Amino acid sequence: MLPSPVSGTEGYAHEAEALIGRYENMFAAALHAPVLHLISKQPGKILDIGAGTGRDAAWFAAMGHHVVAVEPTAPLRNAAIALHPSPRIEWLDDRLPDLDPLRARGERFDLVMLTGVWMHLDEAQRDRAMPNLAALTKPGAAISMMIRHGPVPSGRRMFEVSADETIRLAAPFGLYPALNLHRDSAQVANRRTGVTWTTLGLVKAALP
Ligand SMILES: C[S@@+](CC[C@H](N)C(=O)[O-])C[C@H]1O[C@@H](n2cnc3c(N)ncnc32)[C@H](O)[C@@H]1O
Repeated sequence: MLPSPVSGTEGYAHEAEALIGRYENMFAAALHAPVLHLISKQPGKILDIGAGTGRDAAWFAAMGHHVVAVEPTAPLRNAAIALHPSPRIEWLDDRLPDLDPLRARGERFDLVMLTGVWMHLDEAQRDRAMPNLAALTKPGAAISMMIRHGPVPSGRRMFEVSADETIRLAAPFGLYPALNLHRDSAQVANRRTGVTWTTLGLVKAALP
């Protein structure tokens, strides 16, 4: 019997071949234009959770950042390592909501990215994940999240998650919304079916 997939990754391994081209065809700079101001100009440490094919990790590495890229779907992670070999990217087979191996290292990051990942967690998992994300974020640094809304692709596990709920969940951990943007999908096929995205920038209060 095949092992059950990591909760949230359902459908990804099976479709990996088709998804690789689709993800790599997006331009990280355009996709993340609204949060550019939250990315340090100085080389720092960035955590990309659910990093997929490494498109964004490679973009950060090219800017001089050290990236820890977490990706539990092996075919995507292996493709990413082959597509974007970089001494500045470290790949980890880890998963939300707990990220136990990563948290055991005690590191904190200058930016934590979750692009197209948060809505794969159910309510209880989101509750469990938020304090872990906060603990991994340096004071004064940000979490950038893109949350997908609309029809769920067949075979995937996805929930309708609002910006308001996420902001409410983040507040007790000193995370305040610096950006809350709702826009249509950049992918034509998804736009036609009504897919939209929320981009949230949550900044962690600096230490007094
Ligand atoms: C829509 S894809 C986005 C990939 C990449 N961030 C991008 O923008 O191209 C969602 C990614 O989240 C990963 N994922 C799903 N559930 C996860 C979990 N519980 N923990 C970490 N990553 C997860 C999937 O394996 C997949 O690579």
